[in-house]
Amino acid sequence: MAKSDDKPTTTDAGIPVSSDEHSLTVGPDGPILLQDHYLIEQMANFNRERIPERQPHAKGGGAFGHFEVTQDVSKYTKAAVFQPGTKTETLIRFSSVAGERGSPDTWRDPRGFALKFYTSEGNYDMVGNNTPVFFVRDPMKFQHFIRSQKRRADTNLRDHDMQWDFWTLSPESAHQVTWLMGDRGIPKTWRHMNGYSSHTYMWVNAKGEKFWVKYHFKTDQGIECLTQEDADRLAGEDGDYHTRDLYNAIQRKEYPSWTLYMQIMPFHEAETYRFNPFDLTKVWPHSDYPLIEVGRLTLDRNPTDYHTEIEQAAFEPNNLVPGIGPSPDKMLLGRLFSYADAHRARMGVNYKQIPVNRSKAPVHSYSKDGVMRVENVSDPVYAPNTKGGPAADPERYPQDDTWEASGDIIRAAYTKRRDDDDFGQAGTLVREVMDDAARDRLVSNVVGHLKDGVSQPILERAFEYWRNIDQDIGNRIEKGVKGS
Ligand code: NDP
Ligand code: HEM
Repeated sequence: MAKSDDKPTTTDAGIPVSSDEHSLTVGPDGPILLQDHYLIEQMANFNRERIPERQPHAKGGGAFGHFEVTQDVSKYTKAAVFQPGTKTETLIRFSSVAGERGSPDTWRDPRGFALKFYTSEGNYDMVGNNTPVFFVRDPMKFQHFIRSQKRRADTNLRDHDMQWDFWTLSPESAHQVTWLMGDRGIPKTWRHMNGYSSHTYMWVNAKGEKFWVKYHFKTDQGIECLTQEDADRLAGEDGDYHTRDLYNAIQRKEYPSWTLYMQIMPFHEAETYRFNPFDLTKVWPHSDYPLIEVGRLTLDRNPTDYHTEIEQAAFEPNNLVPGIGPSPDKMLLGRLFSYADAHRARMGVNYKQIPVNRSKAPVHSYSKDGVMRVENVSDPVYAPNTKGGPAADPERYPQDDTWEASGDIIRAAYTKRRDDDDFGQAGTLVREVMDDAARDRLVSNVVGHLKDGVSQPILERAFEYWRNIDQDIGNRIEKGVKGS
């Protein structure tokens, strides 16, 4: 064993230890002793190494980098992070949704695209996916949707029967399911996929003018996808294929980048747009709202400790900075509660003091104490006070970036407008975006999925679901499954 004079092993208290290999025993053949504090410390620490994995998005990988604003979008937002020329340190975590922490990277699934910008006005998190839409439009259904994707209670197996049961009873899922079953449902690597906010957010400029916006991070590496066959093979050969690819690319100094574009809708157009622009199951067609370039995200630094920097990274859509606010998208509003709650459950109330989650801007909050608080709190511990404590500055930060709302208190997701339907945009994707070869792969992917354990009458509902998206595709899927 190499001897290290300048770095002798110590206990967690910094006390040098005399052996890395042997417990304290009564003679070489005798029992070990309770007084061997170092052995006990090693065992105890090991037994507590794992923290709960994220409920969804458990498997993932990440890297550090920066976001640089290359265009002037100051007429749309006053957010410091998006002012011309600003360069901001960032953290990204990519993930799959349904699998556990050790699951293969190449399963068919949406991919998370979670960004933390360490801005001069506090941490801004843009927690998106590699798809521009989602399966449901009401946060009440999110938990049920995720459970239908995870494991059954009895067999502990994932089950296509329950997935299609949920999807066919939730027709609003059609657009995202079409996207998922198409080529982009399995990206070749995380570097070769786009990231979308999916949700609509609000931007507010220095004059107080408001805009509705959607974020599109387009990969500069180009879109590349895996076929179902290649993905299945890779799942066996290298379950960490995407994690390895990102790490190795950055080690080789092939720094991946994405160009950020926005779709921007003037505030009042939302009231009369032909479908509800806040419905997360729909995109805004580019012909209505073209992409406006903002800047570039580049990843250039690997983590050195996955646990402290990636596993304990806490992304939360409620981390919005002045100039950026939420929209009436009910899914987004649900998420504004859910993430911080998940972090408190997974890591304890003081998770924001873990270095990767710490703001680089000064923190002057009145939070106090709690498990694992490591930063000192100083008096006064209450507000308002006359003792020189922090005080809110309504002149600089006049109010939250929000909108007006009124109405009866009811349970419903959006009033229907002229073009509000569940299948239209999925049909456009099939007919106008995919070519013949992509449609063939779509049919083959869906047939393979349905043949894997989906029972009647769910199968019949699935054929009808696909016929609602596109008559021909639905018929081909039925034929493929029934083998006629
Ligand atoms: P456009 O023709 O302007 O845009 C089509 C979009 O589809 C492009 O962004 C393209 O991305 C993307 N795309 C290409 N192949 C696939 C695929 N196999 N799976 C998913 N997306 C793909 O049309 P519209 O804006 O009118 O949208 C038409 C349809 O395109 C929508 O119904 C939606 O399903 C899909 N789409 C729309 C997006 C939007 O924000 N408007 C974003 C992504 C998809 P790229 O340019 O990177 O190749
Ligand atoms: C992770 C809830 C919808 C993207 C999570 C986590 C929860 C959650 C609890 C785990 C957080 C953690 O433990 O760190 C919800 C709820 C939703 C919703 C309640 C809807 C009501 C969405 C949508 C997107 C999204 C629409 C994308 C647009 C992500 C990503 C992660 C994540 C990327 C992983 C973040 C990371 O890498 O740490 N979600 N989610 N989620 N969610 Fe959602």
